[in-house]
Amino acid sequence: MSDLEKQDLKNKKVIVRVDLNVPLDDNDNVTDTTRILACKETIDLILEKGGTCILISHLGRPKGKENKFSLKKIVDTVSRVLNQPIFFYQDCIGQGAQEAISKLDQGSVILMENLRFYQEETLGDRVFAKSLSELGDIYVNDAFGTCHREHASTAVIAEYFKNKKFAGKLLQKELKAINQIANDGKKPVLAILGGAKVSSKLSILYNLIRNVDKIIIGGGMAYTFIKAKGGQIGNSLVENELITNAREILGLAQKLDKQIMLTDLDLKITKNDLKKFTFYLNVLFLLNKDFHTQGKLKIHS
Ligand code: 3PG
Repeated sequence: MSDLEKQDLKNKKVIVRVDLNVPLDDNDNVTDTTRILACKETIDLILEKGGTCILISHLGRPKGKENKFSLKKIVDTVSRVLNQPIFFYQDCIGQGAQEAISKLDQGSVILMENLRFYQEETLGDRVFAKSLSELGDIYVNDAFGTCHREHASTAVIAEYFKNKKFAGKLLQKELKAINQIANDGKKPVLAILGGAKVSSKLSILYNLIRNVDKIIIGGGMAYTFIKAKGGQIGNSLVENELITNAREILGLAQKLDKQIMLTDLDLKITKNDLKKFTFYLNVLFLLNKDFHTQGKLKIHS
């Protein structure tokens, strides 16, 4: 994928794969808008350059068209956070979707309905990916939290945009941060990982353990490791099918003389929190895959 900043986007319809898989409470309020805010830079850039944004995303893991996973529920919040009027269309492919897009004024933003209402999305179906590609002229992937999946809207669709596929600003930033850790050689490096699922970070873990000095694992995913070490986790979240992988990663850490620290505390660290710490390390944060920062961190020991 090449440089989005250098592209002429004037009057272009730009399909932007974003990750709007946001948490909702029982009244369908978005309880954390981080992922929405994370797309803002890319969307603003496309609009500044005269393009129109066609946002495609998943929400949850619906089995078919389940209303409770409709992206319509978050349109107002997306509009508020992005500070843009957001149109919505009740489907993500087909003639109706294309007509709705063709009626938009240049510089508009439209959110299409949940991609996962079609099982073809997660199956990586080529026909579905082609239908998605027909929504616009250019494809931008800015869905950092989802781009590890070989889904129609992330991996397969790119095949239909030979020289017209780009990484969004969020994706660029995250890749840069990971590359710096892997390649710039500053030591020691501590990585902190959180979130519910080990499964979605498995390949990252195998990679990180070779490139960093210490890893702190917190959040829900810590319990799979605690169980793998023979600990008691009660009814806590666990991915039993990954216990073997967790043991393998722990074993690898031992072999490479790297340290994995587990915490059953949920970690939420903001840039402001960094000011409170008092000893220095080079750090890469990978928290829920949505937030990273890197540099000198002071830690209260
Ligand atoms: C996430 O929340 O981890 C991403 O949006 C990907 O969702 P998924 O694990 O359901 O594919």
